[in-house]
Amino acid sequence: MSSVHHLISWEDWSDDEIQDLLDFAIYVKNNRVFFAGHMHGRTLAMLFQKTSTRTRVSFEAGMTEMGGHAIFLDWLSSNFQLSDIDFEAEYLSRNVSLIMARLKRHEDLLTLKKGSHVPLINGCCHLYHPCQSLADALTVALDSPKKLKDTKITYIGVHNNVVNSLLEITSALGIHLTLVTPIADDDYISKQAVQRAEKKKTVSWEKNLHTAVKDADYIYTDTWVDMEFFNDPSFAKEKEERIQLMMPYQINSELLKHTKAKVMHDMPIHAGYEITRDIVTDDRSVIFFQAENRLDAQKAIILKLANI
Ligand code: CP
Repeated sequence: MSSVHHLISWEDWSDDEIQDLLDFAIYVKNNRVFFAGHMHGRTLAMLFQKTSTRTRVSFEAGMTEMGGHAIFLDWLSSNFQLSDIDFEAEYLSRNVSLIMARLKRHEDLLTLKKGSHVPLINGCCHLYHPCQSLADALTVALDSPKKLKDTKITYIGVHNNVVNSLLEITSALGIHLTLVTPIADDDYISKQAVQRAEKKKTVSWEKNLHTAVKDADYIYTDTWVDMEFFNDPSFAKEKEERIQLMMPYQINSELLKHTKAKVMHDMPIHAGYEITRDIVTDDRSVIFFQAENRLDAQKAIILKLANI
């Protein structure tokens, strides 16, 4: 079981392995037809404890396009909610070639990994979102006229799972990441991700918004409130406080006057909060291209972990 290669975070992946996977994702995107039958006869189990649009669609469409099949498993309507996670995972991995799981807690994902004999892909937990970060890197690699090592991304928002995976992947690829993160709760910060980026000198923190965006090639934002809590009445007070604190950091036309950067967002978007509606569809937005790239990133991950 120890030889099975998983994607839980980029922690277990070397810089060279990450660069190779990105190069492969570019190849997959440019040669979509070539991979039409590569997953024939194989099944991916997709387990969701949280809502999703892009992660579910891109993995399922990816498997379909490659001739395989994907099973959607809702946590609440499966027996994962009743039994031990590792026992259910042991059963699941006797039926499918790969498992992709979106679980609330990183610790539960590690328990799932313990029970699985097949590669496990993290579809986003409270600490990491590696699949998103590969699509982000793919977007920059395909869109930027500069080499990755000369490219600068400024992330403006809450320090969350997306940021941890961005820290890891940008450090591996040599992209500089500036963080403007007025909300940074220790429970949501991956120390190993921060240390990896600090060691490579690919991360810096900035408080002044205009300084942070001035030389950026891309500015990137995400929801201020995790989708898990967005409509949760018990989180309403915290949500309101976050909105008050974060509103000066909104990506809008006024901010874009201070930079030539393009705009990224991993979606789902809460227009009028972290970004205004006009900027989502502005010529400088690569948001929908970024979301489209989830499909190619997912295919590359599936093919790599399935060893095909
Ligand atoms: N960015 C992302 O993971 O989208 P979903 O939550 O819709 O899957």
